[in-house]
Amino acid sequence: MPIPKINSTKISVLHELLDAEGETVSGGRLCKKLGLSRQSVWKAVRSLQEDGYKIGSLPVKGYRFQGVPDNDLDPSWIEILLSDCPWGHPVLFWDKLDSTQIPAKDLARRGAPDGIVVLANCQISGRGRLGRSWVSPPLGGIYFSVIIHPAMQPDQIQILSLVAAMSVQNAIFSITGILCQLKWPNDILWEGAKICGILTEVSSEPGLVHYAVTGIGINANMAGNSMGLEATATSLASITGHKIHRGELVASVIRQLHLGVAGIGNGSGVQKIISEYTLRCNTIGKMVRVVLDEGEITGKACGIGDRGELLVDVGSEIRSFTTADITHLRTCH
Ligand code: BTN
Repeated sequence: MPIPKINSTKISVLHELLDAEGETVSGGRLCKKLGLSRQSVWKAVRSLQEDGYKIGSLPVKGYRFQGVPDNDLDPSWIEILLSDCPWGHPVLFWDKLDSTQIPAKDLARRGAPDGIVVLANCQISGRGRLGRSWVSPPLGGIYFSVIIHPAMQPDQIQILSLVAAMSVQNAIFSITGILCQLKWPNDILWEGAKICGILTEVSSEPGLVHYAVTGIGINANMAGNSMGLEATATSLASITGHKIHRGELVASVIRQLHLGVAGIGNGSGVQKIISEYTLRCNTIGKMVRVVLDEGEITGKACGIGDRGELLVDVGSEIRSFTTADITHLRTCH
């Protein structure tokens, strides 16, 4: 699959036009400031116009920014929103992909650095945890994967998923004002219904993580079951009663994720993350059913271990689970 061309000229031109705050900027000034030929500037403007940006162009006078595209998932706009963040440059966008994990892993294998984002409007075979699929219809959802080189041991990789879950929770709160619940390890729920799923895949050898790819799927603007959401899922639009700007949410998650991953750096960083996650996680203190290959176990979720595993008090002992499917059980009073 060909990787879309990275057009950083486009972003630079867009920056300059936005900085001019509605004033016309001459082609000559853009060329001088950005060290580009007139033809390159013109090509960048034309490409932005094709993406749906409203940019007036007046002969002799120059170019004027007049409006953003209707497409709320425009990758250039996400990059603009992340101007002061080292991650999200570039945001590679496809209208349709099998799974955003595939090109992201391919790029990571080829040495792509931290924070590169693969984003799609829809996925044909979106992947979920534990070999499940992730329904990924167009327009309403958010599907993206981020390349990360976390400073951690392979057996701690679950911590990265906990960081990602808290990052999404923060981002949803900052964009919508909704405080979602975290279900271990990395589901994001609203009143028990799923809003977001996170899948972290990793390439490692003993003692060394080569790279991780964290894929995030958010039910943003889907309308209930009409867009393929399961009965146990909901969307941000259903909760708030209005559509959210998907690009703004993507940018906010990436910003939060960058901050969260920066905090992993050392041992005390990991401990801080576990303490924070333990406080926030809705699973802790609940009776849970853990589904394992060899059967089911019921107990009280009582903590998070050093590697992000769930600790469950099963009466006779405390058991720890690294990857498992868990159900929160209702307790009768
Ligand atoms: C889960 O809860 O089972 C995890 C779902 C993860 C879905 C996202 S959507 C973007 C990325 N691409 C995929 O194919 N899966 C992840």
